[in-house]
Amino acid sequence: MRRSDISSSRVLLASLLALAPSPASAFYFPGVAPTSYKEGDSVPLYVNHLTPADSQNDPKLRSVFSFDYYHPPFHYCQPEGGPQYIRESLGSILFGDRIQTSPFELKMGVNESCKALCAEQTFTPRDAMFVNSRIYQGYDLNWLIDGLPAAQLLKEQDSDKPFYSPGFALGYVRGEQPEFNNHYDIVIDYHKAGENQFRVVGVLVNPFSMRDSRYIGPGQAECGTSDNAVFLDEQENTQVTFTYGVYWRLNPTPFATRWDKYLHVYDPKIHWFSLVNSAVIVIFLIGMVSTILVRTLKKDIARYNRLDQLALDDFGGNGAVEDGVAEDSGWKLVHGDVFRPPKNPLILSVLVGNGAQLFMMAGLTIAFALLGFLSPSNRGALATVIIVFYTLFGFIGGYISARLYKFFHGESWKLNFFYTPFALPVVVFAIFFLLNLFVWGRGASGAVPFTTMLILVIIWFVISVPLSLVGSWIGFKQPVVDAPVRTNQIPRQIPPAGGYLRPLPSMALAGVLPFGAIFVELYFIMNSIWFSKVYYMFGFLFICYGLMIMTSAAVTVLMIYFLLCAEDYHWQWRSFFTAGASAFYVFASALLYWVKDVSFGSWTSGVLYLGYSALLSLLFFILTGTIGFFASWLFVLKIYKSIKVD
Ligand SMILES: *[C@@H]1O[C@H](CO)[C@@H](O)[C@H](O)[C@H]1NC(C)=O
Repeated sequence: MRRSDISSSRVLLASLLALAPSPASAFYFPGVAPTSYKEGDSVPLYVNHLTPADSQNDPKLRSVFSFDYYHPPFHYCQPEGGPQYIRESLGSILFGDRIQTSPFELKMGVNESCKALCAEQTFTPRDAMFVNSRIYQGYDLNWLIDGLPAAQLLKEQDSDKPFYSPGFALGYVRGEQPEFNNHYDIVIDYHKAGENQFRVVGVLVNPFSMRDSRYIGPGQAECGTSDNAVFLDEQENTQVTFTYGVYWRLNPTPFATRWDKYLHVYDPKIHWFSLVNSAVIVIFLIGMVSTILVRTLKKDIARYNRLDQLALDDFGGNGAVEDGVAEDSGWKLVHGDVFRPPKNPLILSVLVGNGAQLFMMAGLTIAFALLGFLSPSNRGALATVIIVFYTLFGFIGGYISARLYKFFHGESWKLNFFYTPFALPVVVFAIFFLLNLFVWGRGASGAVPFTTMLILVIIWFVISVPLSLVGSWIGFKQPVVDAPVRTNQIPRQIPPAGGYLRPLPSMALAGVLPFGAIFVELYFIMNSIWFSKVYYMFGFLFICYGLMIMTSAAVTVLMIYFLLCAEDYHWQWRSFFTAGASAFYVFASALLYWVKDVSFGSWTSGVLYLGYSALLSLLFFILTGTIGFFASWLFVLKIYKSIKVD
């Protein structure tokens, strides 16, 4: 009867088997079968962690910690024999889900107006203080019924169209004191699928604060009214009775479209407008860059080859050779140095290898999501798929890193084999682990359990590392990528560069464009990460990812062209940093988001926020840097192939 405990392996297997979702089920995972209940069947209600949320009168984020539902100060009633954890996918746990059983008794189609959850609970002043400050921070409760999140009914601002927003308030701040919600009206939409076959197609919860509720006996209570709210006293103990009511409403919505009302696009107009806006600018820029480049390059190449011809014709003639050489300027001059290996070739090849791995992972994940496999109806599928792809693409990382290292004439092969699968994951894991220590310190539930961490390490060590080594070995066995021109013995002197070609200005200038392609979507992603909202606009994300790749490539190639024209042949690291510079803008936008939408009460929240933003920016740096490097590599190979050098 249960459906929410699909294990990650089955999710993956099913998603591989069902590669052709129909448009009607575009947002549903094809492998999820509906559950039918008979009238009177019990429908389990699972409870998830409490998360910080934005309320309508206070849209600021006030905390980043989530709390376990059964965290003792909340005093929520437990089922008999204690709560049990529901099996979840790895990704779901990593993203903070802690789903457990509850004492709620819901019977399909049977209304109840007032039931008690457990005997009266006593809140000490300490507990009251804790809960009150969570109410001030706008925490939400998250429940799941038949895989659907319990939602609040909100209205769109301009059209008044109602939509379901997952999560509902722990309490409200209306007057001087925060009101604590102790009664829940659970309104469940159900659909008649056949004779005595019913399915859950929507869940709303209206929470109330009722001081006058009285506990009578197991399951029985006398509910008060919401005229008198519960205030948790911070001076003395407060008694609270938890009650609930259940209302079943027949609904025509079929099971297949039950998620539609949850997948609400906030401000779709702004979304579209800014996306089209940035797309137009980006396409215009790319067009400009490529026409300039193609035209000038053609002219350059024609001129170089003509000069070559002239020099040959005039050989032994009237001394035009001197003139020809004098006119020979720009990027051709550095042909004897442009393929000279850069400084620290080992580090660069390891970074590019890891970047290629991230690139493949991100691209394939977004494509998968676009096909509808990673809809919010499969909790944690997104994170699980990210982990699986990252692990599998260890192969690509090793291969690229080894081939590039060979191209750079690297000697320390063992180090290259070793660093490629270890360097970045160890850094990321170390940061992740440190940040987790803070969450542990706070006693919040968002901390990733030690066993999950161990599983991650094992997956990485047993699958990813060997794959990377195999990839490295195959890359190592491949013939070296041929440089079209020979490298001189003695390095050429580089004339001092000025203006925008200096490293910092060129990075600042070039980095802004790829960032421009993604900043709209970035804002929505940040919102969904920090406010635990569903993110499902993968169509937008897909376009943005494409635009970002194109801009990173175009702008870096342009920069490298100018650099080579200025007779500076250190293009390898420069191209990586030029494209990677957009990561600094990403970090800056995270800071801006902090100023605008965030107001933390504790410094640990700030540390966590900054830490995760820095981690994401680091990964983004490596990803875009790799795109820039590859584009420049191809570009340099191509232009030097097209000129004749003797
Ligand atoms: C249960 O409550 C809902 C909402 O108030 C109502 O529409 C429905 O008719 C009730 N069902 C029964 C069986 O009384």
